[in-house]
Amino acid sequence: MTRNVVISGGGTGIGLAAAQTFAAEGDRVLLLGRREDVLRGARVPGALTYAADVGDVDGVRGVARFVADELGAVDVLIHSAGGSGQLEARVEREDPLELVADNWTVNFRINTLTAVLLTEALKERLAEPGGRVLFLSSIAAYRGSGSGAYAASKAALHPYAHDLARQLGPRGITVNVVAPGYVEDTDFFGDAMDDARRARLVAETSTGRAGTPGDVAATLHWLASPGAAHITSQIIQVNGGAERGH
Ligand SMILES: NC(=O)c1ccc[n+]([C@@H]2O[C@H](COP(=O)([O-])OP(=O)(O)OC[C@H]3O[C@@H](n4cnc5c(N)ncnc54)[C@H](OP(=O)(O)O)[C@@H]3O)[C@@H](O)[C@H]2O)c1
Repeated sequence: MTRNVVISGGGTGIGLAAAQTFAAEGDRVLLLGRREDVLRGARVPGALTYAADVGDVDGVRGVARFVADELGAVDVLIHSAGGSGQLEARVEREDPLELVADNWTVNFRINTLTAVLLTEALKERLAEPGGRVLFLSSIAAYRGSGSGAYAASKAALHPYAHDLARQLGPRGITVNVVAPGYVEDTDFFGDAMDDARRARLVAETSTGRAGTPGDVAATLHWLASPGAAHITSQIIQVNGGAERGH
């Protein structure tokens, strides 16, 4: 059966790998992101694309209209839009407190609000039974992220997923969170990764390697499978053992 799969942040990194994985299994994929050229250039056979900022109410209204016209029901909703905020446009600030306010606002906007708004806009379109909602958190939600802003904005998704799982469970829909460790071959780090930092992150793993977008995509695909129907309200870590299960 062909499923409709909506993926925010689907033009690059983990979202793109997920799109390729689902499309390879015959599913119909809709890629969302802000940069139209990036979405159009994504190599995903048969994919639909729609450019929007999903941290914006009007942006998600546009997505909801597009989904209603082009897909109807949503079988799998994957929230891969996000980042540490370092790739976002910055306003010059002198005042350190204003800098802190900007950092926390940007992180909650791109990591938390994107996922919450898109979920709420598409919630009634989720297939029942069998619908799947999948969030992308991070190892940072367990460890902190330096300033705390990125980590907190990911950790905020955990209680939201628990509330949503309870709400959507009676409709036969599961809600889970995937929390990756270091994943290379994405745009996430911009130019902030160097050999020494990479080696430190790899040394933390038990597997002795960096994660790949395909590792995370395979976990998302498994959580979306019929066999995972009784897994809901869980946070699944994909980090090669860098952070132990809890
Ligand atoms: N890479 C890692 O090591 C790692 C580790 C743990 C968790 N994660 C999480 O995994 C997810 C995917 O990240 P990635 O590693 O694949 O990085 P990535 O390649 O930078 O992907 C992030 C995607 O999100 C999109 N995006 C950001 N803000 C958006 C918005 N407001 N509206 C719509 N789309 C938006 C970006 O496209 P546009 O800029 O065109 O909108 C981009 O395609 C993120 O949530 C990230 O926090 C990554």
